[in-house]
Amino acid sequence: MAGRAAGRGGRPLLGGGGGGGGGRRGKPSKAILAALLLASVALLLLLALGALSLPAGSDGAGSGAALSLHRPRFRRSASQSRLEKTGEKGEPWTEVLSWEPRAFMYHNFLSKEECEYLISLAKPHMKKSTVVDSATGGSKDSRVRTSSGTFLRRGQDKIVRAIEKRISDFTFIPVENGEGLQVLHYEVGQKYEPHFDYFHDDFNTKNGGQRIATLLMYLSDVEEGGETVFPSAKVNSSSIPNYDELSECAKRGISVKPKMGDALLFWSMRPDGTLDPTSLHGGCAVIKGDKWSSTKWIRVHEYKV
Ligand SMILES: *[C@@H]1O[C@H](CO)[C@@H](O)[C@H](O)[C@H]1NC(C)=O
Repeated sequence: MAGRAAGRGGRPLLGGGGGGGGGRRGKPSKAILAALLLASVALLLLLALGALSLPAGSDGAGSGAALSLHRPRFRRSASQSRLEKTGEKGEPWTEVLSWEPRAFMYHNFLSKEECEYLISLAKPHMKKSTVVDSATGGSKDSRVRTSSGTFLRRGQDKIVRAIEKRISDFTFIPVENGEGLQVLHYEVGQKYEPHFDYFHDDFNTKNGGQRIATLLMYLSDVEEGGETVFPSAKVNSSSIPNYDELSECAKRGISVKPKMGDALLFWSMRPDGTLDPTSLHGGCAVIKGDKWSSTKWIRVHEYKV
């Protein structure tokens, strides 16, 4: 019916444009136009109301809007955390430093509070650091290691347990394979000459076997120096943007500038179980400020405490 009416109405207009015809159809077409106008206004009103109620009422539209809002925010906060100097726990992100040695960064691994807590636990018990005496398996004073430090007990309290659980989650090695956390303090001029974390004697491997990996957590920023350096790496850190800020010691290989809350994981053993000599690493001398760090040495087997 409507189709036919339109067809009939259309043809005379195109064909003749006759005055009589036009006049006769004038009243109904005005009525139709008015009706169409009303309908359009009503439709627009409905659309306006619908547009207002859709995002609130529909889950699909709601989550779509939320996604498009959240994605850029996530990206912004991730890059912000790279720049922020406050030490607050920012967005965690992982970085492959090198495959020879196998070394990875877990940025924002610890919160500022956790860093401060570990320092407060250790501070009253700091002693001059020693190194392992390869001849006896015991420990000795050394000029190659001039820091002071102390060991915490594995699972010592709730916060330490939470950190050790996180280390286990990130390394995929059970908590039981870890030695107690060691907290270290380096003042200006203090350093640790390049060394291996694996043992050269049979005494130290009796409990837990060889050290397979090390997780080194930075509990403070260091104004200048204090980098961890891998001098046997085939490449150096010259490609990183802040290479110029590194001390001469750190330019010798791949290096990490300490940042509060960041953690460095490196492996003393290759996936085939052989010792990796490229895991040679040292703590560069602190030039300005002071450095707090905490080390978790991880064994091949359960380490009995
Ligand atoms: C670092 O590596 C680059 C490129 O291989 C090299 O040109 C530069 O001499 C190296 N720097 C140091 C201090 O070894």
